[in-house]
Amino acid sequence: TAGPTYEAIDPVRGITNISSGKMGYALAAACAAAGAEVVLVSGPTRLTCPAGVTRVDVASARQMQTAVEEALPGADVFIGVAAVADYRPAEVAADKIKKTGNDELVLRLVPNPDILAGVAARADRPLCVGFAAESRNLAEYATKKLHGKKLDMVVGNLVQDGMGGDHNTVVIFDHAGQHPLPRAAKERVAQGIVNHVVRLLNQSSNA
Ligand code: PMT
Repeated sequence: TAGPTYEAIDPVRGITNISSGKMGYALAAACAAAGAEVVLVSGPTRLTCPAGVTRVDVASARQMQTAVEEALPGADVFIGVAAVADYRPAEVAADKIKKTGNDELVLRLVPNPDILAGVAARADRPLCVGFAAESRNLAEYATKKLHGKKLDMVVGNLVQDGMGGDHNTVVIFDHAGQHPLPRAAKERVAQGIVNHVVRLLNQSSNA
């Protein structure tokens, strides 16, 4: 998965975030270059689909979850790079919401499903790779996600560093420990991540 999600409030407004999709698209391209058959489930971005990759466009987290479930059978690896909204409006207004004087407008939010945790909980799960975008305490929160969502590997990055731009500094967390990668263009970081995924796949097939 890649990019942001978009949760509609009414026909012209919604909740989204500043993910550009660049990290997820770079990973899709690196996986395809390594010989994988790639389905890229993408939230709204301005990016072009990498060569050799099948893109499925979605907007909301629930649409993303459905597209992931459809693409999953037979997959060896699931990589969740999307910045999925944790919450969505409880109701989507059918018409544009009108301003009513200067009163407060209260928006009630309900939790979205966790797509990655759902994939990792399946009996026939593929190797599961998550991302952790944090503004502080990267190691602590990324390790919590590794264990909490029962993942094989988490790629940790600081939002102020990796979100939106062309470069990223990541630390890979797996059950053997921490593996920092040097700061680089997202295409280069993606190659480093794919190399690590291949190492884990080889370890699990030798086990
Ligand atoms: O798109 P760019 O501008 O290139 O920026 C890249 C990035 C910063 C968005 C990316 O590197 C990144 O860190 N993506 C994950 C962002 C995020 O939302 O992390 P999280 O800590 O909220 O979620 C943890 C993991 O669970 C992620 O793999 C996420 O895809 C997944 N998740 C989260 C919530 C949810 N409802 N479903 C999920 O699958």
